[in-house]
Amino acid sequence: MNIEWYPGHMTRARRMMQENIKLIDIVIELVDARLPLSSKNPDIDKLAAGKARLLVINRKDMADDAVTNRWADYYRSKGFSVLCVDSKSGAGVRKVTGMVQEACREKIERDRRRGIRNRPLRAMVVGIPNVGKSTFINRLIGKNSAAVGNKPGVTRGKQWIKLSKTIDLLDTPGILWPKFEDQAVGMRLAVSGSISDDILDKTEMALYLIGYLKSSYPGVLEQRYGITVSGNDAADLEAIALARKCLAAGGAADMDRMAALLVDEFRTLKLGRISLEMPPEAGSGDE
Ligand code: G4P
Repeated sequence: MNIEWYPGHMTRARRMMQENIKLIDIVIELVDARLPLSSKNPDIDKLAAGKARLLVINRKDMADDAVTNRWADYYRSKGFSVLCVDSKSGAGVRKVTGMVQEACREKIERDRRRGIRNRPLRAMVVGIPNVGKSTFINRLIGKNSAAVGNKPGVTRGKQWIKLSKTIDLLDTPGILWPKFEDQAVGMRLAVSGSISDDILDKTEMALYLIGYLKSSYPGVLEQRYGITVSGNDAADLEAIALARKCLAAGGAADMDRMAALLVDEFRTLKLGRISLEMPPEAGSGDE
């Protein structure tokens, strides 16, 4: 797997985020509901040390609800405040301000003891590229908010958006890159469309998807394509191509075209709402 990002671009984005994090009270971190671990950059724990945290599981409309609920429990057990949302429709997003307030309770109490009142909480959204940060921020802003403007001395050059009487949001989200710790992480990111399609071959992605669906969502391929799956993922891809009449000249299965089609059908939910990874079982030692 050849995964090359743009190091200069990444370094700048990371530096900017490090600077911005100093200004805020709470990090609102977005992950993709279909792959809530692979789409999460573990570096954020170090970068956000000492800050309140809200984990937003985005794209809940695309994932398997039962699995998403297990992920929410998993992250809650790790100490996160967790909210599942669909930023595209806006479902769940209006709960954010209440949850930010709740996650910052300690800070609000501390301020109050020091005689500080009415100081707005400052929040920032972070996440990997394409996870839905802009869509989420736009939903969050809605119609009723306005830019607060620059606050000289403290937030020079930054725009803060007033989310409520008590919460200001930094208008630019922090970008973190996913970590390709193992092959499966890169594969899930590729299959879900979170990273560029140039990085991995579509046939590799399709074969991975077929293997995964057979073990984690048995019956899905049979139902969609009317095939009988075998123990061989490539043979299954061929059977799907033949069933779909996805043929090359001469009548043979067009494997490349079918691979791209299968990945596309997964991404557009034609195969249903499927989660690409399951949370570690409690006590399994994988945590
Ligand atoms: P980013 O800022 O983190 O890079 O991500 P961005 O908001 O640009 O979102 C990337 C894509 O994900 C967009 O689709 C957006 O509509 C979609 N998206 C974001 N949140 C959700 C969600 O909760 N559910 C669903 N189903 N989709 C979501 P796009 O194809 O790039 O644009 P468009 O076709 O929506 O215009």
